[in-house]
Amino acid sequence: MLTLCVVRHAAFPACSIYPSCAFMPEAAMLCHNHHKQRPICNMKHDTVLITGASSGLGQTLAQTLARPGRTLYLGGRNVQRLEETAKACISRGAAVHLHLGDVADRTAMEAWIRSTNGLDLVLACAGITGGTRKPQTPDGAPYEPAAQIYRIFETDMMGVLNTVLPALDVMQHQPRGTDGMRGRICAISSVAGVVSYPGTPSYSAAKAAVDRFIVATGGDAKKAGILLSSVVCGFLDTPMVAKNAFPMPGLTDVNSACRRILRGLSRNERRITFPLWLVAGSRFMDLLPIRLAEFYYNNQPSGAAGSMPEPDLS
Ligand SMILES: NC(=O)c1ccc[n+]([C@@H]2O[C@H](COP(=O)([O-])OP(=O)(O)OC[C@H]3O[C@@H](n4cnc5c(N)ncnc54)[C@H](OP(=O)(O)O)[C@@H]3O)[C@@H](O)[C@H]2O)c1
Repeated sequence: MLTLCVVRHAAFPACSIYPSCAFMPEAAMLCHNHHKQRPICNMKHDTVLITGASSGLGQTLAQTLARPGRTLYLGGRNVQRLEETAKACISRGAAVHLHLGDVADRTAMEAWIRSTNGLDLVLACAGITGGTRKPQTPDGAPYEPAAQIYRIFETDMMGVLNTVLPALDVMQHQPRGTDGMRGRICAISSVAGVVSYPGTPSYSAAKAAVDRFIVATGGDAKKAGILLSSVVCGFLDTPMVAKNAFPMPGLTDVNSACRRILRGLSRNERRITFPLWLVAGSRFMDLLPIRLAEFYYNNQPSGAAGSMPEPDLS
């Protein structure tokens, strides 16, 4: 059976055994996992909503999931890049609806998510990052500007809530599938959320909040028929980090990240972590006395003030 699946994935544009299966032939290596787990294959993934679909991880997930018979609701703010994603998804046979807007706009997000015709899968990818700046005076200290702190919390934390909460509500009103599930929601956190990283205080805090909220809510959500997943990943090779002026250990290419995320979803992982050594190391660092961890991080190139580009706070 497994061999047959692999062969069929290699030969056909979509899974011909379980036509409602979420995964694309690009993720053929996933066959072993998702076909072993009948329940996820029984779960429909016909309608998918993705925030941050105009760049990086969200864009790659959209293109990977695009296929005939699937409707993609794609969100972002940059029209041109969002349309490029749409074009690529349409060329792969998906139906596409675009939403231009800010994830921090709670009312607009709620209206958008409620306007969909039901949702099988939601991927909350939109996010920004930013680090501390160099001291402004000779006796000053590195600092994170207030405007950046507010914007990172609004986007990375509130933006995820503005996506996840209406999606939970929409899904709760959907009938259960044959596997008893109504839908699936995945939010992108970060390994930065595992530690109190002095170089990116608000990003670490916002990502920690997302991960804790998703993981803590996941148990009850599952009883309601909704599977929640949080992605705790290290550096991804996307435009977000392209201008970082420091080496990025464990930098993962975005297609591999996408496959890892889809494999985690196929296994119903509540927390999807990669690379494992970085996440495990970060967990260990968080157990150290604060002064020791802070000393270490402050001596890392990534912890240096001014080593990350200033984010677009618009
Ligand atoms: N790259 C990494 O190393 C890394 C590591 C761990 C976690 N992550 C997380 O992975 C997710 C995807 O990041 P990425 O690396 O793909 O970055 P990216 O290439 O910069 O893409 C970020 C996406 O988020 C959207 N976005 C940002 N602010 C928004 C807002 N206020 N409203 C609506 N959309 C907004 C952007 O849309 P527009 O450009 O259209 O505004 C873009 O589509 C983020 O949550 C990020 O924190 C990234």
